[in-house]
Amino acid sequence: MSKRIDVKDLNVYYGDFLAVEGVTMTIEPRSITALIGPSGCGKSTFLRTLNRMHEVIPGARVEGEAIMDGQNLYADDVDPVQVRRQVGMVFQRPNPFPTMSIAENVLAGVRLNNRRIKKSEAEDLVEDSLRGANLWNEVKDRLARPGSSLSGGQQQRLCIARAIAVRPEVLLMDEPASALDPISTLAIEDLMAELKDDYTIVIVTHNMQQAARVSDKTGFFNIAGTGKPGHLIEYDATDKMFSSPTMKETEDYISGRFG
Ligand SMILES: Nc1ncnc2c1ncn2[C@@H]1O[C@H](COP(=O)(O)OP(=O)(O)O)[C@@H](O)[C@H]1O
Ligand SMILES: [Mg+2]
Repeated sequence: MSKRIDVKDLNVYYGDFLAVEGVTMTIEPRSITALIGPSGCGKSTFLRTLNRMHEVIPGARVEGEAIMDGQNLYADDVDPVQVRRQVGMVFQRPNPFPTMSIAENVLAGVRLNNRRIKKSEAEDLVEDSLRGANLWNEVKDRLARPGSSLSGGQQQRLCIARAIAVRPEVLLMDEPASALDPISTLAIEDLMAELKDDYTIVIVTHNMQQAARVSDKTGFFNIAGTGKPGHLIEYDATDKMFSSPTMKETEDYISGRFG
């Protein structure tokens, strides 16, 4: 598990609109890469290109390469469904299937992949995934209750359990804690720190303290103005980005002198 992704000259379009231009970066395995920048600069758009979710929007397309361990995810012979299995995603709003039980929520992705699993195997997978998401102890006595019976923070960890149940290589998280209270936010941050031993993690966050706390590397995206494409301005070790960034634009943004 855990792979690196080499992004090369990536342009991302919605129809004729170039939303993100010319991104080149290496996302390291077993580490957390944070993407920061002002709203609308293309962080979510870029993130969704890493598991080919972008192209599910009509007219949306990508130019360039995203190479995961030697394989260009955008090569003609690559099946996007396989890419999404290897590169899981967690969204801003926890989105468990509300009427499905906690256990069935964990298994939902696996079932979607048409993998047939024995009952005992399913039970083990549910336990392993919930343990992996730091949720097992809180829910082990109520696995048959609906996913919607959990708190927001628990629901988000349930979604992480669902994502890791399919054994992905990479986990993409788009502002995974921004809808949560501070305690649940810390629980998610702790969990990310544990998961990075096994996964490549890319997180979008508008919270710079969070990026500084959890990530190893940080990429700063910016736009010159509305209607202009977003660019990756600077990408470096998180310590460096927050203490002595090279670009003035980064400095202005992290010190709050932006906009
Ligand atoms: N589904 C979509 N169709 C057309 N344009 C979109 C869509 N989603 C986002 N955009 C545009 O792409 C740009 C980048 O948006 P987004 O990736 O959501 O930025 P961020 O996540 O950094 O706030 C914005 O101009 C936004 O309006
Ligand atoms: Mg976004």
